[in-house]
Amino acid sequence: MKTLNDIHALYDKKVLMRVDFNVPFYESGNIADDSRIRAHLPTIEYLIKAGAKVALISHLGNPEQSLQPVAERLSFLLKDAVTFIGDCLSDHTFATMDDLGEGCVVLLENTRAYPEEKANDMAFSKKLAEGFDIYINDAFATAHRKHASTYGVAECIEKKCAGLLMQTEVETLSRVLKAPKEPFLVMIGGAKVSSKLGVLKSLVQKADTMLIGGAMANTFLKAMGVDIRESMYEDDMLEEALKVVQLANEHNCKFILPSDATVAEKLEKDISTENPNVNDIPENMLILDIGKHTQAVWAEMVKDASTVLWNGPCGVFEVEPFHLGTKAVAQAVAKSHAFTIIGGGDTLHAAELFHVKNDIDYVSTGGGSLLEFLEGKELPALEVLK
Ligand code: ADP
Ligand code: 3PG
Ligand code: MG
Repeated sequence: MKTLNDIHALYDKKVLMRVDFNVPFYESGNIADDSRIRAHLPTIEYLIKAGAKVALISHLGNPEQSLQPVAERLSFLLKDAVTFIGDCLSDHTFATMDDLGEGCVVLLENTRAYPEEKANDMAFSKKLAEGFDIYINDAFATAHRKHASTYGVAECIEKKCAGLLMQTEVETLSRVLKAPKEPFLVMIGGAKVSSKLGVLKSLVQKADTMLIGGAMANTFLKAMGVDIRESMYEDDMLEEALKVVQLANEHNCKFILPSDATVAEKLEKDISTENPNVNDIPENMLILDIGKHTQAVWAEMVKDASTVLWNGPCGVFEVEPFHLGTKAVAQAVAKSHAFTIIGGGDTLHAAELFHVKNDIDYVSTGGGSLLEFLEGKELPALEVLK
């Protein structure tokens, strides 16, 4: 993959840089979390310093939503005005950049306003690319998408490379996958086995220990004959779950499920809970979090590891008191002397909620892209930068 070290002349060059500004918003329209914006600052500042004329391009999940509030937040973070251009195909982009001069930054509008973006349409990609000297992709979180702004456009511009965020993500994650300092412990949680099957299969071949939390643990427990009563699980994943366990055994990975659980009659805030062993879940009860014993045992394991990768909450952390398991493991990861890595939308949300984010060694910006990278899949946006 080409990096900024391979691009020598940036002064006065028109640079199109793909970023991932797909940030969460409050209903009021304010930005709920600007981590993804801040993650791109090193590359943007590098380009400003080099005297490039920078046009930033991104999507927002909702095609009708505008990136205008992001331009305002970015101006604040850069302590420098960022001009918002109301269209990603505007005729005025270059005139505006020429007026502003070297070291300027403009932000183009949400690419998904055009259906051609997701279709990776060639004519649209050509229009996006037209007039730019260099293409930089810094959007690791969108690297699993083969869209016009992540793929097609890169085929239309000869000079291209990864930005600093993209480079750091790829280098850090590759290092952990190739030669993790051992013992390597992976903790995977969240709702569904199906959304993380590939990554489970890949990581049991690499990790020394795999801890499984969240509703996905229910599917594994059920597959192994445990009566999980009314708990959420995936009926069509029982066989796959057993295959994952078998693969773990074949690769000497200790595959560990919760031994006790926090259960309740329904998912409701402040409802009364019990803490049975997983083999004694009372009738009509739901598993909504890992139990106290599991929390303590897992915290010890995390403490003894040298590399810890965590993705996916251990319980319904959004609803108290089912946040306690995720909080306990989040605090254990934060305290660990291991090299710690976390990623995933809900995982980052939990890390923020429990004030541990600053104590994690590496916080990936990727969600879906992180899972695909860890699975060992080739990401289209990286492939096209080679
Ligand atoms: P991430 O975004 O970090 O990859 P996921 O999207 O896979 O995480 O999973 C997060 C979701 O899983 C949360 O909304 C959480 O409430 C849910 N979840 C975790 N444990 C349970 C459980 N025992 N029962 C129901 N939902 C659960
Ligand atoms: C994300 O939020 O995971 C990335 O921005 C990709 O967004 P998408 O799933 O809408 O393509
Ligand atoms: Mg999620």
